[in-house]
Amino acid sequence: MRVLITGSGGQIGQSLVPALAQRGREVLATDIQPLTFDVPTARLDVLDKEAIQKLLREWKPVEVYHLAAYLSARSEQEPHRGWDINFNAFWHLLEVCREVGVQRVFWASSIAAFGPHTPRQNTPQYPVMDPIGLYGIAKLAGERLGEYYFIRHGLDVRGLRFPGVVGPGHLPSGGTTDFSVHMFYAAKAYGYYKCYLLPHTKLPMIYIEDAVRAIIQLMEAPISVITVRGAYNLHGMSFSPAELEAAIRHKKSDFRCEYVPDFRQKLAESWPESIDDSYARREWGWQPQYDLNALVEAMWQAIP
Ligand code: SER
Repeated sequence: MRVLITGSGGQIGQSLVPALAQRGREVLATDIQPLTFDVPTARLDVLDKEAIQKLLREWKPVEVYHLAAYLSARSEQEPHRGWDINFNAFWHLLEVCREVGVQRVFWASSIAAFGPHTPRQNTPQYPVMDPIGLYGIAKLAGERLGEYYFIRHGLDVRGLRFPGVVGPGHLPSGGTTDFSVHMFYAAKAYGYYKCYLLPHTKLPMIYIEDAVRAIIQLMEAPISVITVRGAYNLHGMSFSPAELEAAIRHKKSDFRCEYVPDFRQKLAESWPESIDDSYARREWGWQPQYDLNALVEAMWQAIP
């Protein structure tokens, strides 16, 4: 089965491309940046509608995985471009998918689509959503758009509200949850990390292997079981920077963090602490495999 992935060079794409290839998909990995994968690659600027059209017409994918995005912090710094990439590009892509007969589309929403009036503990699937950041506003609009394309055009759009994704091999940038990866690299390299969030800011997180498995499981589920067309809640674990620091200190006893919050603190405080992902569990059998201890083990081993 032919598939196309946008944003393949990003944190999730780096792992999703080989995982899909391993499951026998014929993958075309695309990104605006040069890519090095053992599968065919192409340069794609997701804002270039004609380029998307041309590539989809040529490659004729059955599935498209749309991962290209500007994360929460970067979207605050470049709001117009952030909106274009996070919302308008998705809209263009859905239009082209419809035109060329793509069967299924995956795209990534986020915990950033929640806001200060959303219950922060065990956040349900359908709570009040009042995101305060432009990234979250675009993701919420994207969720509505995905459902709209399903209802109006019958396009099988499926999505996940990702928590902070933690994995080795790629330093995420432009996000509010980046500390969860950066802290490991800093601990290994310097034994010191300056964190831009306050120590007790608890956030939902997921290990990269779980994140990729969730995408594959969701996309392989029969259409009859999928009731959520915006994006499914997804949970792996929850931790604060201080809890991660303590867990890393078990590996490196003299590791030290300093906490100097910046504008990301407000965003993080408006997001949930933990997520109720029972729709995903019930409808397509979601079950995370990594808790904080397993994550720390995996990261510590993987980072040189
Ligand atoms: N990890 C993202 C961010 O920090 C949230 O989806 O922006």
